[in-house]
Amino acid sequence: MGSNFIKYIFKKHPKWQVVNLDKLTYAGNLANLTEVAQNPNYEFVRGDIANAEDVAKAIGNGVDKIINYAAETHVDRSILEPDAFIRTDIFGTYTLLEAVKKYNVAQYIQISTDEVFGSVQNGSFTEESPFAPNSPYAASKAGADLLCRAYFKTYNLPIIVTHSCNFYGPNQYPEKLIPLFVTNLLENKKVPVYGQGQQIREWIFTEDYCAAIEAIMEKGRAGEVYNIGTGFEKTNLETTRFILQEMGLGGAMIEYVKDRPGHDLRYAINSQKLRGLGWEPNIDWADGLRRTISWYKKNEDWWQSLKDGAYLEYYKKQYGK
Ligand code: TYD
Repeated sequence: MGSNFIKYIFKKHPKWQVVNLDKLTYAGNLANLTEVAQNPNYEFVRGDIANAEDVAKAIGNGVDKIINYAAETHVDRSILEPDAFIRTDIFGTYTLLEAVKKYNVAQYIQISTDEVFGSVQNGSFTEESPFAPNSPYAASKAGADLLCRAYFKTYNLPIIVTHSCNFYGPNQYPEKLIPLFVTNLLENKKVPVYGQGQQIREWIFTEDYCAAIEAIMEKGRAGEVYNIGTGFEKTNLETTRFILQEMGLGGAMIEYVKDRPGHDLRYAINSQKLRGLGWEPNIDWADGLRRTISWYKKNEDWWQSLKDGAYLEYYKKQYGK
């Protein structure tokens, strides 16, 4: 998502200067940003948000805004090995917040998730819904979001927290539902649906998401929380069947596998407050999915290179094959 946002910003605001601080973990990939690498307004710093020296290096001669896209994000990995989630998502956020204080940064935006609220049976989460995280990933994001709240209340720092529904689109590492299923099918492999596939997720296409963050940068108020949602709610089976149909395949490519422990049944988020800033989604679910499938078809080299030894090791741990 971070790389999509940087490309989006240079398209919309070519004069802005962007510093990209990235640890380049397994999910980070400099190839996502080759088209901006030579731009004199772009600077890349390899480093860890949980390391104050790296953060100071990225801030260099001063930055006026920090958007914290850096996080460990994959729920299944957080269930297998929570360690990195606690370190990057919580301690990393703490380190950035300290930098906001020390260097008088004018705006800090925390990128977070609707998963901090837990599962909702009816209706949708508002910005005031209580946190009830159910995975180590969601708990690590909830911890970080609470730190943001505390740094606003205690130090009066210009901090905004955002909670987004599930995003998807080009350049997403092939472990999340949509890129995993599309790339598996392109390799003629089955797609592993957890349980009966009846869980519901709300989906936002990457460009709509970038525009939401842009609106919050321009019109959001310090100390406020904004939910980012589209209303495009689908069961995992609906998403899976749509992908299969678009790729000319049938239900025989589905493999129902053991459910995720603590699996949240439904996420749905109320984004009225954000819409009050003038934002609304422009790309509907089917259109976004078609664009995503087409991108993965055209960029086979990109995702094939990610399915390396470490990926296969994770895949085996997670799916048993
Ligand atoms: P995911 O993309 O991991 O996002 P999140 O857990 O943050 O919502 O998963 C989306 C949904 O798809 C979630 O309900 C779990 C389900 N899922 C599967 O059924 N099989 C899979 O292999 C994966 C990765 C996810």
